[in-house]
Amino acid sequence: ESTLGAAAAQSGRYFGTAIAAGKLGDSAYTTIANREFNMITAENEMKINATEPNQNQFNFTAGDRVYNWAVQNGKRVRGHTLAWHSQQPGWMEAMSGAPLRQAMINHINGVMNHYKGKIYAWDVVNEAFDDGNSGARRNSNLQRTGNDWIEVAFRTARAADPAAKLCYNDYNIDNWSWAKTQAVYNMVRDFKARGVPIDCVGLQSHFNNNSPYNSNYRTTISSFAALGVDVQITELDIVGGSATTYANVVNDCLAVPRCTGITVWGVRDSDSWLGANTTALLFDGNGNKKAAYNSVLNAL
Ligand code: XIL
Repeated sequence: ESTLGAAAAQSGRYFGTAIAAGKLGDSAYTTIANREFNMITAENEMKINATEPNQNQFNFTAGDRVYNWAVQNGKRVRGHTLAWHSQQPGWMEAMSGAPLRQAMINHINGVMNHYKGKIYAWDVVNEAFDDGNSGARRNSNLQRTGNDWIEVAFRTARAADPAAKLCYNDYNIDNWSWAKTQAVYNMVRDFKARGVPIDCVGLQSHFNNNSPYNSNYRTTISSFAALGVDVQITELDIVGGSATTYANVVNDCLAVPRCTGITVWGVRDSDSWLGANTTALLFDGNGNKKAAYNSVLNAL
């Protein structure tokens, strides 16, 4: 196959990218994105601050721009993200306790209702665990509403759009030996045991010198899958752009039937949230295919 999306489709998987609404007028950008990818995540446009800038006033202008571009070009969409400590609008940052809990529920309902039946998978909860060795939850205004906030978010999401897969998404849960990975694993196992609705785990997979790719990544993927959830690689970028590491990531996903797809977090190096100098993506700033691109295509 000659594109990432078509190559991934040979095994029933997808290959996606993050899209920024503000770049949809850049034809070099859209040409590559349209040609290569068949799953789209809005880089920022479906986040809380974008979709509910004032409480109870939902705004889907930018989110719809990304959604419509994707669907008009025959692509599916991952929803990102409904409950997160970051990129909250000011009104939500200022909230706590029961009113915040209710605002979270209202937000999930408002956004999921707008996109009802249209989203392949939602990152319902993003980045709820602490870094480091504690395995604890991240201290956030949402966490302080009570430890059950995550399951409440998932139950709300299931009722709002039963057609969407519901994912828990996080970074630094790629390395099987890390406490954060084990903590998320234990939460998912508990959710499955108690019937809390969860369908997938998103491994963001932002690899860099502090959190490098480790060969136990395949164990992480297969271990989550064995709990009865899909695994999606949701925000892949590799600082330095190692072609070997990119191939390892692809091979690890392909080795696990329930690893259903891979999304890279941007199109060209110049589109990366980490800065062009990190050369973390598959196309250079001129839109040329990098060695990492060929490595991924060959592995798929
Ligand atoms: C990043 C975007 O790429 C940036 O444009 C924005 O300024 C900050 O957020 N984890 C996530 C993504 O779940 O939403 C983040 O995206 C990157 C880290």
